[in-house]
Amino acid sequence: MSAGDSFYIATPIFYVNDVPHIGHAYTEVAADVLARWHRQRGEDAWLLTGTDEHGQKILRTAVANNTTPQERADRLVADSWQPLLETIDIANDDFIRTTDERHEKAVATFLQRLYDDGHIYAGEYEGYYCVGCEEYKQLDDLVTTPDGEYKGQLVCAIHSRPVEILKEKNYFFRMSDFGQKLLDLYESQPDFVQPASVRNEIVQFVKQGLDDLSISRSSFDWGVKVPWDETHVVYVWFDALLNYVSAIGYGVDDEQFAKRWPAVQLVGKDIARFHAVIWPAMLMAAGLPVPRAVFGHGWLLVGGEKMSKSKLTGIAPSQITDTFGSDAFRYYFMSAITFGQDGSFSWEDLSARYQAELANGFGNLASRVIAMVNKYFDGEIPALGELTASDEAIVATQKRATEKSNTFIDKFAINEALSSVWELVDELNGYITEQEPWALSKDPAKRERLGTVLATTVNGLGTLAILLSPVLPKATAKLWTAIGGVGELSEQRIDDAQSWSHSGRVTALESSLFPRIEVDAESGTA
Ligand code: ME8
Ligand code: MG
Repeated sequence: MSAGDSFYIATPIFYVNDVPHIGHAYTEVAADVLARWHRQRGEDAWLLTGTDEHGQKILRTAVANNTTPQERADRLVADSWQPLLETIDIANDDFIRTTDERHEKAVATFLQRLYDDGHIYAGEYEGYYCVGCEEYKQLDDLVTTPDGEYKGQLVCAIHSRPVEILKEKNYFFRMSDFGQKLLDLYESQPDFVQPASVRNEIVQFVKQGLDDLSISRSSFDWGVKVPWDETHVVYVWFDALLNYVSAIGYGVDDEQFAKRWPAVQLVGKDIARFHAVIWPAMLMAAGLPVPRAVFGHGWLLVGGEKMSKSKLTGIAPSQITDTFGSDAFRYYFMSAITFGQDGSFSWEDLSARYQAELANGFGNLASRVIAMVNKYFDGEIPALGELTASDEAIVATQKRATEKSNTFIDKFAINEALSSVWELVDELNGYITEQEPWALSKDPAKRERLGTVLATTVNGLGTLAILLSPVLPKATAKLWTAIGGVGELSEQRIDDAQSWSHSGRVTALESSLFPRIEVDAESGTA
């Protein structure tokens, strides 16, 4: 992709039946890092996130809490889901709610089009349904519990709760027409579904043959009404998937739609099937391009199991950010977990990495260099003299870190992009130890050499500020100011991060980038 290109990335829209936990925040951060990265390549990046508010699950939780689904959704969005974005520093361009009028209208337009084109018919659904998943289930998806509360009953393998048996007149989407077209898509566009583990699962699933999909419900009314039959509401997933196009003007703003679509879709692997099978089939039926890619990331695990609210293992993002800050939250999840694989969260690992990588590795490097420029040169950034092989090696690493991290980002390998940048952090630390600027400062004859060493490290710090700003927006902004970076940091080209200019002077850092935190590793509290 080149400058000026459009880069549209979307997170799933999250259910408002409960408050966010760090699993939701994980997806948000990954999408935000990618959006910021592409923005810093000069692309027209657009980040969409939002909330999924219709369906039986939301309706039932609202009723159980003696309120209406609309009131409960409004409250959770205002009190929890919007504030989450602030807590973890997400720079989203839009926030869509499935109860927005713009969305409900687009759902009706889309559905009517499919109906008019013969992709929808009336039929009868008889089978299992899991309200927790909001998904029609096959017998294969269910297990019989040997003991406990639901002993002997058929339960959803994901939620461990009994499924319901539905027998309803529903409208069906002729999804079975799209099985071969989807297989052709996976074949001709091998990176349509990523990573490979998720792709394989999806291909296997579609090869078994696709059933038509029930896309309406008539036994409750919390949803978008089917335009030609108001006794039905649209199936919540069919409704929710359309947020990705309703938010960018589908059916009302053709220009914006053409400019942004198709999107890169970042989802957890739990919902990869909806995004890599149902969603592209819907788009094909409507004659629209399929997403650019669907990436299904792994799960955050607690005690070896997927962390979830329904299993009471959810951790609130603010539990982490209150102590460590949003930058550390972002850095930890993006660097400690291979993007695309599952990862376990632990307070010990978080504190250890905070201390070693952020406080001692990066933060300390920045404060030492800035302090030395202040001390030995009164804040004036010295000029480079003649370069030795060690100085040249730093310049080469700046360039290599820039190239490698950009290549990894194109492959969604966020953690590898960060390790490429960390090679520069480590090399700069090693360079200072080896060059001993404090020793050079004692010998007036070595003044020019001292200047070259400090100028080389300041240059390296500028490159780090640029490359790390998508992940550590707050700390890098402080650093950029302190080293006299010219222009807005967020406007510095990340694919050319080795070249940047400064005003000629450093100022003191107001406070260390990553202050020391005394943490009780067991409880995670400071
Ligand atoms: O599925 N680890 O919403 P949802 C990593 N509304 N990510 C996790 C996670 C974990 N333990 N737990 C949740 C829905 N997530 C639908 C989506 S989209 C048209 C509709 C993240 O609230 C991950 O992104 O159950 C996962 O896919 C999503 O939250 C599920 O959120
Ligand atoms: Mg879920």
